[in-house]
Amino acid sequence: MTASSPKRALVTGVTGQDGSYLAHLLLGKGYRVFGAVHRRSRSNVARLEELGIAKDVELVEYDLLEFSNILRLVEKIRPDEIYNLAAQQPQSPAPLPFRVLRPNRRGLPPPREDPEPLYTGNCDGLGVARLLEAIRTVNPKIRFYQASSSEMFGKNSVAPQSELTPFGPRGAYAIAKLYGHWMTVSYRESYGIHATSGILFNHESPLRGQEFVTRKITVSLAKIKHGELEVLSLGNLDAQRDWGFAGDYVEGMWLMLQQSAGDDYVLASGEMHTVRDFVSASATMLGFDIVFEGVGSNERGIDRRTGRTLIQVNPKYYRPADLNHLCGNPLKAEQAMGWRRRTPFLQLVALMVEADDHRVSDKRLTF
Ligand code: NAP
Ligand code: GDD
Repeated sequence: MTASSPKRALVTGVTGQDGSYLAHLLLGKGYRVFGAVHRRSRSNVARLEELGIAKDVELVEYDLLEFSNILRLVEKIRPDEIYNLAAQQPQSPAPLPFRVLRPNRRGLPPPREDPEPLYTGNCDGLGVARLLEAIRTVNPKIRFYQASSSEMFGKNSVAPQSELTPFGPRGAYAIAKLYGHWMTVSYRESYGIHATSGILFNHESPLRGQEFVTRKITVSLAKIKHGELEVLSLGNLDAQRDWGFAGDYVEGMWLMLQQSAGDDYVLASGEMHTVRDFVSASATMLGFDIVFEGVGSNERGIDRRTGRTLIQVNPKYYRPADLNHLCGNPLKAEQAMGWRRRTPFLQLVALMVEADDHRVSDKRLTF
């Protein structure tokens, strides 16, 4: 790369947690970063602002549901690398109602609203095929990263899970992600495209959305500390996840596209912690001393110092087909690419707790 011709990266889902950290990383490496923002976007660029890069990322509009739009975008930007991080996530709010959309540029009326599972399949599954097909058509030398998920392993798989573990997805999101994964493999094998599927286990950060359990915990406990909330209601406290820091994981994404050929890699910490562990660690860091009493939906987290109930279980947060244990084996990424997880569990919790403590105290919770 020379100063006169920086590498060009297109990042879909740039307004999200990973998109923001990845854009930050790429800009730091001298890339020109095109951040794709979808037309139905509900979020703002607050995460990019928090990282101080909102002005440096060149925002472009896209729609993963429309092949012609994707094709034009890839033709126009001519990226060296595409990172497909956009996804309708299982916990995301439903997409904005289509009726608020204006007709598109060709004057066609906006599409009718799909039920959630169809929309998820279209965006998270077929959207990947649209991007790969655009790469094949415009320039098969473009390198492609697909954000695949540990949820593709499903409930009954062996642990820890690696690139060789059989998949058993449950639910529209995981099934759509698996379609995207196999399309990535297929374009790699059929057309020789440098296409990589990163099978990432849960990764969190101060930029995580509040719909996910870790950030819900750190925001809520900070609010309790500052007198803005009485009690934190959660679902399955026994659920275990392999939680890492998103900043470490986006480095893995970049590394994947610097290898000589595309491949599949698991990124994970290799450790599992329960939701209850995450609550306890966060609470301690905020000055509480929580003891859990009771079982099932009667379980309570009580602050020993005040006798106050700070945590309660609300079955409305239980999931019909929850994945109780997800634990990954990142050995291949470590050995083949030298990837390392640098942020241990308690350091991750501390980063999130500290950020939300300040945000709540300063009344600047913008996402
Ligand atoms: P995130 O914070 O929820 O960001 C998702 C991004 O996708 C946002 O920019 C969002 O834009 C965009 N998006 C949502 N619906 C869209 C749609 N219909 N069309 C186009 N764009 C859409 O997620 P993240 O944690 O950064 O995750 C990044 C990717 O990694 C996702 O594909 C996720 O499935 C995958 N992944 C994440 C994890 C994890 O633990 N974080 C683990 C495995 C895989 P708006 O906000 O404007 O809607
Ligand atoms: N969201 C949420 N809210 N989850 C709760 C709650 C609650 O109040 N109480 C308990 N949980 C449990 C869930 O039942 C689940 O077992 C666990 O906490 C983690 O849930 P989330 O943080 O919502 O994440 P996820 O594991 O379902 O999904 C995330 O990780 C996947 C990778 O494995 C997302 O980032 C997915 O997009 C990603 O693919």
